[in-house]
Amino acid sequence: MPSLHRVIVIASGMLATTLASAAVLKIDLPKESATTYKPGPNLELVNARCLVCHSADYAAMQPPNMPRKTWEAEVTKMKKVYGAPIADEEIATLTDYFAKTYGNEAAAKP
Ligand code: HEC
Repeated sequence: MPSLHRVIVIASGMLATTLASAAVLKIDLPKESATTYKPGPNLELVNARCLVCHSADYAAMQPPNMPRKTWEAEVTKMKKVYGAPIADEEIATLTDYFAKTYGNEAAAKP
């Protein structure tokens, strides 16, 4: 059975390692990273359906050239795989927003 002193030494060693890796592990988030969705068609519905589990960061991190089909697959995945509370008839409306706002149909990129 290790002495108490030894246990404390091991524990503080682990803490030092944790602190050191925390300092090294610096994550650079994309510039446009945001917690809210960009203005666009049916933003209210998007906010109601797509902020339940995570911020808008995941959408902002997607490649800007994503076509409508890919966004539709993304919205469908949120519903089918992660159980997002989205009605079937809302998928098209949500997809339209993402294609036009974050996808390759956006007129002007920030
Ligand atoms: C029921 C919870 C929930 C809701 C609601 C939700 N998501 Fe997600 N979303 C997740 C989870 C879980 C992940 C995966 C996170 C991870 O991999 O760490 C995710 C990841 C993502 C990603 C990253 C790419 C990927 O496929 O992993 C995007 C983009 C995304 N969500 C968009 C949306 C959009 C758009 C909506 C609204 C239509 C939405 N989410 C609603 C749970 C949800």
